[in-house]
Amino acid sequence: MTWVYADLEALSHAAAGIWVQQARQAVHARGRFSVVLSGGHTPQRMYELLAQSPLRDRVPWAQVHVFWGDERCVPSDDSRSNEHMARQALLNLVPIPPGQVHPIQYARSAQEAAEQYEVVLRTFFKDLEPRFDLVLLGLGENGHTASLFPEASVLDEQEHWVAEVYVAEQDLYRVTLTPPLINQAMLVAFLVAGTAKAPVLRKVLEGPFDPHHLPAQLIRPTHGDLYWLIDQEAGSLMRQRA
Ligand code: 6PG
Repeated sequence: MTWVYADLEALSHAAAGIWVQQARQAVHARGRFSVVLSGGHTPQRMYELLAQSPLRDRVPWAQVHVFWGDERCVPSDDSRSNEHMARQALLNLVPIPPGQVHPIQYARSAQEAAEQYEVVLRTFFKDLEPRFDLVLLGLGENGHTASLFPEASVLDEQEHWVAEVYVAEQDLYRVTLTPPLINQAMLVAFLVAGTAKAPVLRKVLEGPFDPHHLPAQLIRPTHGDLYWLIDQEAGSLMRQRA
């Protein structure tokens, strides 16, 4: 399902409302809420809204578990770190138990970081199906999501839940959740805003299925729901009115 909002502010309010609703439902049903954070800039305002009343007071933080969909292999105090942004905008400002924040730890290598994070996830889910209650994703102008970049070998990964990726154009290693794990989520929500995303969004949503060039097309939850929260600028080239 796709919803179009006037601007990023309205989109962020809607996304934060979905977080609150999903969290309350999950805690009521299963006693905990597992959410995967997206990096980049788009979700920052949503995180800020969740860190202030009234939304802050409606989230059962004591039962919330936070993970990341991807991370750049940089120290956690580096401005490029997705963990850094989320802690500054949200996690340092809410009463979530520190042991329930599960960052992708910077290790000696991207491969080691990926292996360690997979252990974190398998420990968290134990014998349960690895079904996150909510996965937040963004969309890059080249069609990537999380750190699933065009033509990357990780796009074909079917066994591992976490993988390392070398992004040549950034000369940067990253760690990312893989499509099979993301697609097990109860709900995946893309947040896409701004004119610069209009061309790629039209290709992803209305163009031919071409996942090696548009990895975001790999995200098709097997049981759960897929939401696209977009603003008018990002949706400006779409033929279908959402
Ligand atoms: C990252 C993100 C990445 C992001 C998109 C969109 O670590 O960079 O996980 O997938 O969501 O690149 O980024 P913006 O929201 O900054 O446009």
